[in-house]
Amino acid sequence: MRKKIVAGNWKMNKNLQEGLALAEELNVMLAAEKPACDVVIGTPFIHLAKVSEVIDHKLIGLSAQNCADKASGAFTGEVSAEMVKSTGAEYVILGHSERRMYYHETYEILKEKVLLAIANGLKVIFCIGESEEERDKSIQNQVVKAELEGSVFNLSAEEFKNIIIAYEPIWAIGTGKTATSGQAEEIHAYIRSVIAEKYGKQIAEDTTILYGGSCKPSNAGELFSKPDIDGGLIGGASLKAADFKGIIDAWKK
Ligand code: 13P
Repeated sequence: MRKKIVAGNWKMNKNLQEGLALAEELNVMLAAEKPACDVVIGTPFIHLAKVSEVIDHKLIGLSAQNCADKASGAFTGEVSAEMVKSTGAEYVILGHSERRMYYHETYEILKEKVLLAIANGLKVIFCIGESEEERDKSIQNQVVKAELEGSVFNLSAEEFKNIIIAYEPIWAIGTGKTATSGQAEEIHAYIRSVIAEKYGKQIAEDTTILYGGSCKPSNAGELFSKPDIDGGLIGGASLKAADFKGIIDAWKK
């Protein structure tokens, strides 16, 4: 059975004190009322080690938002997958469209990052999704397939079990313009079919596919009601404990 997950991507928000306060608040909320899904928070690098100490890892998984494409050495300013793992984090978000766009992360670079993350025992939340222009041209399926083929379909079946997919249409990120649940379900089902072609039906059935892009408490229930939508990767609404909890609670309805 595949896991249901609600994951927060804090992006470049919250200083250390604010981040710790948010993690603690969420931990208290979820300890009082157990979630019906797995919950993950993706914090900036510098928060990881301290946040790791204040959360109950049975309630909240911890994720980085990136890792280096090299194992170690003279790469000033970089943070390796091994370092991420050593903080107590269990996950890393890779392939986010913001990293592909602003930091020019190519399929090849991401392939290296994914391999290093898995080799160091991290689960990868691998983001894919088309731009508005690509959707207007109705090539969204080709785009997500190429992203999978370019960076994760080199993995063995055993390695691929560490991949969680996050479908995030770029036009829906931070815009308030959510994909309709129908649009999201259609492409999630397509993504699952592509995984099935590559790794077989069972692995495809067991792969968690999250939706991301202006997901909030008011639309999470409708999105999560679809058979191929297994949760969300949440940006803006993960920065307030009450909003994030509202999305987590969508799995209880
Ligand atoms: P928003 O929820 O702010 O649209 O961001 C989605 C996202 O990019 C999560 O990775």
